[in-house]
Amino acid sequence: MSKKILVTCALPYSNGKLHVGHIAGCYLPADIFVRYQRLNKRDVMFVSGSDDHGVPIKLTADKEGKTPKEVATYFYHQQKESFKKLGINFDVYGSTCNSNYHTKTSQDFFKTLFDKGFFEKKSSKQFFDDVANMFLPDRYVKGTCGYCGAKDQNSDQCEECGKELDVEHLKDAYSIINKSPASVKDTFHWYLDLTKFEETVSQWLNIADTREHTKKFVRGLVSQGLVKRSMTRDIDWGIPVPLDDPDAKNKVLYVWFDAPIGYISNTKEICQDKFGNFEEYSKWWKDKNTDIYHFIGEDNTVFHCVIWIAMLKAEGSFNLPKGVIVNNYLNIKFPGKEIEKISKSRGSAVWIQDYLEDGGNPDSLRYYLTTVAPEKSRSVFIVEDLIQKHNSELGNALGNFVNRVLSFYKKYYGEKIEYTTKELNSIDKDFENSRLEIINKVGKLIEEYSFKQAQDSLFDFIRSCNKYIDEKQPWTSRKTDEAETKNTLIQCFNAMFTIGILLNPFLPFSAKKILSQLGISEQIQNSLTWQCAKEKLENGHNLGNPEILFAKIEDK
Ligand code: 2FM
Ligand code: ZN
Repeated sequence: MSKKILVTCALPYSNGKLHVGHIAGCYLPADIFVRYQRLNKRDVMFVSGSDDHGVPIKLTADKEGKTPKEVATYFYHQQKESFKKLGINFDVYGSTCNSNYHTKTSQDFFKTLFDKGFFEKKSSKQFFDDVANMFLPDRYVKGTCGYCGAKDQNSDQCEECGKELDVEHLKDAYSIINKSPASVKDTFHWYLDLTKFEETVSQWLNIADTREHTKKFVRGLVSQGLVKRSMTRDIDWGIPVPLDDPDAKNKVLYVWFDAPIGYISNTKEICQDKFGNFEEYSKWWKDKNTDIYHFIGEDNTVFHCVIWIAMLKAEGSFNLPKGVIVNNYLNIKFPGKEIEKISKSRGSAVWIQDYLEDGGNPDSLRYYLTTVAPEKSRSVFIVEDLIQKHNSELGNALGNFVNRVLSFYKKYYGEKIEYTTKELNSIDKDFENSRLEIINKVGKLIEEYSFKQAQDSLFDFIRSCNKYIDEKQPWTSRKTDEAETKNTLIQCFNAMFTIGILLNPFLPFSAKKILSQLGISEQIQNSLTWQCAKEKLENGHNLGNPEILFAKIEDK
């Protein structure tokens, strides 16, 4: 019996719009993987949702004069809508601050670790705002890096030299609330001693499905030695620390403690909705017959490949993930400008909502983002290239192939596919073999998480379809040899059928259109599997109507 598959995507912070970097980072590759697994009839659960707690949401709320919950709820809906319009269809898209399960699940998790003795209560020094009378978490404090002298650095890490900063190493610290100097006070927190999990992380890493750069990075972290990390925070937005201890009063769980637990809470949510019993979640999280995959961006690596592994191991009843698939960052280049980091504050991004509202084709964006997928290293989104690839690879290579073959056949031979008795020649047979080969090739690459290569290979095949038809010249053979011409065109229809199935993980909207234009009903489309791509259209099959798949973009 094949295993169940649980796929999660990093929960985006609900304090802003989604941009192309988010999508390229983990949502699109995860969606490709899930769609492929579904076509293989695997039992898949696709989980994501918003990460509503933590400092980023609180800061946005402060800036906008709203409550953190208002901000989180607003962006939750906006982000959910953007995913849907891009064809990224989660089974559940939950919200950590508007959930029936999340608070209890996170608190129970924390309590289990506490009861098992995994936390150490320690006093530490933290920045404090005497005017606002509050502790200042990470990004509420700025100052000068004590290592390299860079000014205006956040209190957690120097952007210049990359060193971790703390109360001793951030000089001239000031509160960002009112720019007053920050004082330092003692506070208590609950620390998870990650050194105890070095062996667990190393062993897990040896067998986990991860990309090479991830393995190297995590091995590096472990070899430098892991540390104790505080799992609680002094901030008034989050999940209360579930301890009777008076020192726990007014403290919340560290957002990176509760966020990945959101994957579990959201699974409970869908199990309640779908099966009427939230307890079914354990089939996805505790049953040995389920493989769990987390898709994330590079900045989330330490949290998923170290801290989360330690948390799961310490808790003891959950499975460790089978894979953590990490993409690097996507930089961006606007016309006439240098390559830059995608930045919300500088506004240097292509926002999903804007792209779609401007009439952008979701599949064109999906296609382009996979061609530049930062799977092995950082890559660049070049705005003109998106248009160029839309016009050439989607419009010319794919769109024209479908359109010209369908229009040509219908014009001369009508609606029905009629196989001839004429034997296929060697060019036809080679083409047929390449059609069958591409099915396994693309599938294998997806299973290896090489989504870019998988899509590139599929488009190599699409280009070879155009070459085949150029070589066979049905417009010439039509005048002398009807059987030969029909053979060519029907070979092309079979290729289109294969493409219509294989394209689903990458360009789901266009895949559907191609199959519809071929005359495949919606009902049959829904029952198609990856292996069906090997089949041929039947004799007498009725074709649909050709329509333009990708209208040319003239406007730069
Ligand atoms: O980096 C981020 O956007 C985080 N909100 C990701 C959280 S992933 C998971 F742990 F929920
Ligand atoms: Zn520095």
